[in-house]
Amino acid sequence: MHKELFKKLQEVQKLSYSPYSHFRVACIIKLKNGKEFIGANIENAAYGECLCAERVAMVQMKLAQIKNEDVEYLSVLGDSDEIVSPCGSCRQVMAELLSLDTKIIMFNRSGEYIESTVEGILPYTFTKSAL
Ligand code: THU
Repeated sequence: MHKELFKKLQEVQKLSYSPYSHFRVACIIKLKNGKEFIGANIENAAYGECLCAERVAMVQMKLAQIKNEDVEYLSVLGDSDEIVSPCGSCRQVMAELLSLDTKIIMFNRSGEYIESTVEGILPYTFTKSAL
């Protein structure tokens, strides 16, 4: 399962600019209409300015005026034996730009994966409903 998606993520991973960590991350967001948005991590000599693959993809999706509910899933591949786990900042942006029940598919370099949801990886989510 998810063989094609894994292959596509491996292609996107080649776009990663990660000369400092050498940790290449790829993200593909798939919409319910089949359209895809990609992201890869883009690092910087000023380490704090490194951009995560997930946020690179989500920002492009938002600029294309995609609505939260139009997303089928967000997938992410990391360069590790461990299945990649999105950082806390990316999870918070997922809570804003995706839906709490949007599927999140996380891969390791061998193609093993875990599926969860935005709320599954960010329980007790802080959202606009609290404001
Ligand atoms: N990184 C991502 O792009 N996504 C994640 O989910 C985890 C971390 C990037 C940031 C940095 O370029 C490198 O991986 C090492 O932290």
